[in-house]
Amino acid sequence: MTTLLYPQGQELVQEILHDPQITYLVGQLQSHHLESYEHSLRVGALAVDVGYENTLAREQLLMLGRAAVLHDIGKRDIPYCILGKEGPLTNPERKRMDAHVRAGFRALAAASDDTLVRKILVQHHEYQQRPYPRHGPDRRDVSRATLERRSSDAAVLCLAQMLAAADVFDALAHRRSYKEPLPKETIERIFQEEYRGSKLYAEQVLRRFDS
Ligand SMILES: [Fe+2]
Ligand SMILES: [Fe+2]
Repeated sequence: MTTLLYPQGQELVQEILHDPQITYLVGQLQSHHLESYEHSLRVGALAVDVGYENTLAREQLLMLGRAAVLHDIGKRDIPYCILGKEGPLTNPERKRMDAHVRAGFRALAAASDDTLVRKILVQHHEYQQRPYPRHGPDRRDVSRATLERRSSDAAVLCLAQMLAAADVFDALAHRRSYKEPLPKETIERIFQEEYRGSKLYAEQVLRRFDS
Protein backbone atom coordinates (compact mmCIF):
# COMPACT_ATOMS: atom_id res chain seq x y z
CA MET A 1 0.00 0.00 0.00
CA THR A 2 1.23 3.54 0.65
CA THR A 3 4.06 4.53 2.99
CA LEU A 4 3.78 8.10 4.21
CA LEU A 5 7.01 9.83 5.20
CA TYR A 6 5.89 12.80 7.33
CA PRO A 7 3.88 11.91 10.49
CA GLN A 8 3.21 15.63 11.04
CA GLY A 9 1.23 15.54 7.76
CA GLN A 10 -1.28 13.17 9.35
CA GLU A 11 -1.74 15.55 12.28
CA LEU A 12 -2.39 18.37 9.83
CA VAL A 13 -5.03 16.30 7.99
CA GLN A 14 -6.74 15.54 11.32
CA GLU A 15 -6.75 19.27 12.09
CA ILE A 16 -8.35 19.95 8.70
CA LEU A 17 -11.00 17.27 9.27
CA HIS A 18 -11.97 18.89 12.59
CA ASP A 19 -13.09 22.06 10.81
CA PRO A 20 -16.92 21.93 11.20
CA GLN A 21 -17.59 22.85 7.54
CA ILE A 22 -15.25 20.13 6.34
CA THR A 23 -16.59 17.59 8.86
CA TYR A 24 -20.08 18.29 7.50
CA LEU A 25 -19.18 17.99 3.80
CA VAL A 26 -16.98 14.93 4.21
CA GLY A 27 -19.67 13.30 6.40
CA GLN A 28 -22.17 13.72 3.58
CA LEU A 29 -19.82 11.98 1.16
CA GLN A 30 -19.29 9.19 3.71
CA SER A 31 -23.04 8.57 3.95
CA HIS A 32 -23.53 8.70 0.18
CA HIS A 33 -20.58 6.61 -1.03
CA LEU A 34 -18.12 5.10 1.44
CA GLU A 35 -15.54 4.22 -1.21
CA SER A 36 -15.28 7.86 -2.37
CA TYR A 37 -14.99 8.99 1.25
CA GLU A 38 -12.15 6.56 1.99
CA HIS A 39 -10.42 7.54 -1.26
CA SER A 40 -10.71 11.24 -0.33
CA LEU A 41 -9.09 10.71 3.08
CA ARG A 42 -6.23 8.73 1.55
CA VAL A 43 -5.71 11.37 -1.16
CA GLY A 44 -5.69 14.07 1.55
CA ALA A 45 -3.00 12.22 3.52
CA LEU A 46 -0.87 11.49 0.44
CA ALA A 47 -1.13 15.01 -1.04
CA VAL A 48 -0.12 16.62 2.27
CA ASP A 49 2.78 14.15 2.63
CA VAL A 50 4.03 15.19 -0.83
CA GLY A 51 3.48 18.83 0.18
CA TYR A 52 5.83 18.32 3.14
CA GLU A 53 8.46 16.81 0.85
CA ASN A 54 8.23 19.97 -1.27
CA THR A 55 8.69 22.13 1.85
CA LEU A 56 5.41 23.99 1.45
CA ALA A 57 4.57 26.65 4.01
CA ARG A 58 1.85 25.76 6.55
CA GLU A 59 -0.70 27.96 4.79
CA GLN A 60 -0.13 26.14 1.50
CA LEU A 61 -0.21 22.74 3.20
CA LEU A 62 -3.58 23.64 4.68
CA MET A 63 -4.91 24.75 1.28
CA LEU A 64 -3.64 21.57 -0.37
CA GLY A 65 -5.03 19.36 2.41
CA ARG A 66 -8.45 21.02 2.33
CA ALA A 67 -8.68 20.75 -1.46
CA ALA A 68 -7.50 17.13 -1.32
CA VAL A 69 -9.98 15.85 1.29
CA LEU A 70 -12.77 17.69 -0.56
CA HIS A 71 -11.65 17.06 -4.16
CA ASP A 72 -14.44 14.54 -4.91
CA ILE A 73 -17.08 16.16 -2.71
CA GLY A 74 -19.18 16.76 -5.84
CA LYS A 75 -19.77 12.99 -5.95
CA ARG A 76 -22.46 13.61 -3.30
CA ASP A 77 -24.55 14.70 -6.27
CA ILE A 78 -23.81 11.69 -8.50
CA PRO A 79 -26.25 8.77 -8.28
CA TYR A 80 -24.97 5.84 -6.24
CA CYS A 81 -25.66 3.43 -9.12
CA ILE A 82 -23.11 5.30 -11.26
CA LEU A 83 -20.51 5.66 -8.51
CA GLY A 84 -20.73 1.98 -7.60
CA LYS A 85 -21.08 0.54 -11.10
CA GLU A 86 -18.87 -2.48 -11.69
CA GLY A 87 -17.54 -2.07 -15.20
CA PRO A 88 -17.21 0.72 -17.75
CA LEU A 89 -19.61 3.66 -17.75
CA THR A 90 -21.77 4.47 -20.76
CA ASN A 91 -21.22 7.88 -22.38
CA PRO A 92 -24.17 9.51 -20.58
CA GLU A 93 -23.02 7.98 -17.27
CA ARG A 94 -19.45 9.25 -17.90
CA LYS A 95 -20.82 12.72 -18.58
CA ARG A 96 -22.80 12.59 -15.36
CA MET A 97 -19.73 11.39 -13.44
CA ASP A 98 -17.54 14.17 -14.88
CA ALA A 99 -20.03 16.70 -13.50
CA HIS A 100 -18.68 15.96 -9.99
CA VAL A 101 -15.91 18.53 -10.49
CA ARG A 102 -18.21 21.48 -11.13
CA ALA A 103 -20.60 20.21 -8.45
CA GLY A 104 -17.71 20.18 -5.96
CA PHE A 105 -16.71 23.69 -6.96
CA ARG A 106 -20.29 24.86 -6.36
CA ALA A 107 -20.51 23.04 -3.01
CA LEU A 108 -17.37 24.80 -1.81
CA ALA A 109 -18.54 28.16 -3.13
CA ALA A 110 -21.62 27.79 -0.94
CA ALA A 111 -19.70 26.59 2.11
CA SER A 112 -16.62 28.81 2.16
CA ASP A 113 -15.06 31.89 0.64
CA ASP A 114 -11.71 30.18 0.11
CA THR A 115 -11.30 30.74 -3.62
CA LEU A 116 -7.81 29.22 -3.78
CA VAL A 117 -9.02 25.88 -2.40
CA ARG A 118 -11.79 25.92 -5.03
CA LYS A 119 -9.27 26.66 -7.78
CA ILE A 120 -7.13 23.70 -6.70
CA LEU A 121 -10.15 21.39 -6.46
CA VAL A 122 -11.51 22.30 -9.89
CA GLN A 123 -8.22 21.30 -11.57
CA HIS A 124 -7.92 17.81 -10.16
CA HIS A 125 -8.76 16.09 -13.48
CA GLU A 126 -6.90 18.59 -15.69
CA TYR A 127 -3.65 16.60 -15.76
CA GLN A 128 -4.84 13.41 -17.38
CA GLN A 129 -5.14 12.25 -20.97
CA ARG A 130 -8.77 13.33 -21.18
CA PRO A 131 -8.71 16.51 -19.08
CA TYR A 132 -11.88 18.09 -17.76
CA PRO A 133 -13.82 20.27 -17.01
CA ARG A 134 -11.73 22.99 -18.65
CA HIS A 135 -9.94 20.73 -21.15
CA GLY A 136 -6.33 21.66 -20.51
CA PRO A 137 -4.41 24.68 -19.35
CA ASP A 138 -6.31 27.72 -18.24
CA ARG A 139 -6.55 29.92 -21.30
CA ARG A 140 -7.03 33.15 -19.39
CA ASP A 141 -5.03 36.06 -20.80
CA VAL A 142 -2.08 36.00 -18.39
CA SER A 143 -0.60 39.21 -19.79
CA ARG A 144 -3.51 41.12 -18.29
CA ALA A 145 -3.23 39.50 -14.87
CA THR A 146 -1.57 41.42 -12.04
CA LEU A 147 1.77 40.24 -10.68
CA GLU A 148 0.07 39.16 -7.46
CA ARG A 149 -2.53 37.21 -9.41
CA ARG A 150 0.11 35.52 -11.56
CA SER A 151 2.18 34.35 -8.59
CA SER A 152 -0.93 33.09 -6.80
CA ASP A 153 -1.95 31.21 -9.99
CA ALA A 154 1.52 29.64 -10.21
CA ALA A 155 1.27 28.41 -6.60
CA VAL A 156 -2.22 27.04 -7.23
CA LEU A 157 -0.93 25.22 -10.31
CA CYS A 158 1.74 23.40 -8.28
CA LEU A 159 -0.70 22.44 -5.52
CA ALA A 160 -3.26 21.26 -8.09
CA GLN A 161 -0.65 19.01 -9.71
CA MET A 162 0.34 17.50 -6.34
CA LEU A 163 -3.33 16.78 -5.68
CA ALA A 164 -3.83 15.32 -9.18
CA ALA A 165 -0.80 13.02 -8.78
CA ALA A 166 -2.07 11.80 -5.39
CA ASP A 167 -5.56 11.28 -6.85
CA VAL A 168 -4.39 9.29 -9.89
CA PHE A 169 -2.07 7.20 -7.74
CA ASP A 170 -4.73 6.34 -5.18
CA ALA A 171 -7.30 5.43 -7.83
CA LEU A 172 -4.82 3.03 -9.45
CA ALA A 173 -3.33 1.51 -6.31
CA HIS A 174 -6.58 0.69 -4.49
CA ARG A 175 -9.62 -1.38 -5.23
CA ARG A 176 -12.50 0.59 -6.74
CA SER A 177 -15.89 -0.74 -7.75
CA TYR A 178 -14.75 -0.83 -11.40
CA LYS A 179 -11.26 -2.30 -10.92
CA GLU A 180 -8.86 -4.23 -8.71
CA PRO A 181 -5.64 -2.62 -7.34
CA LEU A 182 -2.94 -2.49 -10.01
CA PRO A 183 0.70 -3.60 -9.62
CA LYS A 184 3.48 -1.04 -9.36
CA GLU A 185 4.83 -1.52 -12.91
CA THR A 186 1.38 -0.88 -14.38
CA ILE A 187 0.90 2.21 -12.21
CA GLU A 188 4.28 3.56 -13.32
CA ARG A 189 3.45 2.94 -16.98
CA ILE A 190 0.08 4.68 -16.68
CA PHE A 191 1.73 7.67 -15.00
CA GLN A 192 4.26 7.89 -17.84
CA GLU A 193 1.65 7.61 -20.56
CA GLU A 194 -1.24 9.52 -19.11
CA TYR A 195 -0.29 11.88 -16.30
CA ARG A 196 0.29 15.36 -17.72
CA GLY A 197 1.39 17.10 -14.53
CA SER A 198 4.88 17.56 -13.09
CA LYS A 199 7.09 14.47 -13.38
CA LEU A 200 8.56 15.36 -9.98
CA TYR A 201 5.22 14.94 -8.19
CA ALA A 202 4.55 11.71 -10.08
CA GLU A 203 7.92 10.35 -8.89
CA GLN A 204 7.23 11.47 -5.34
CA VAL A 205 3.91 9.66 -5.08
CA LEU A 206 5.28 6.54 -6.80
CA ARG A 207 8.14 6.41 -4.33
CA ARG A 208 5.56 5.96 -1.57
CA PHE A 209 4.17 2.80 -3.13
CA ASP A 210 4.72 -0.17 -0.93
CA SER A 211 3.69 -3.34 -2.72
FE1 LIG B 1 -12.51 13.39 -9.15
FE1 LIG C 1 -10.54 11.35 -6.72
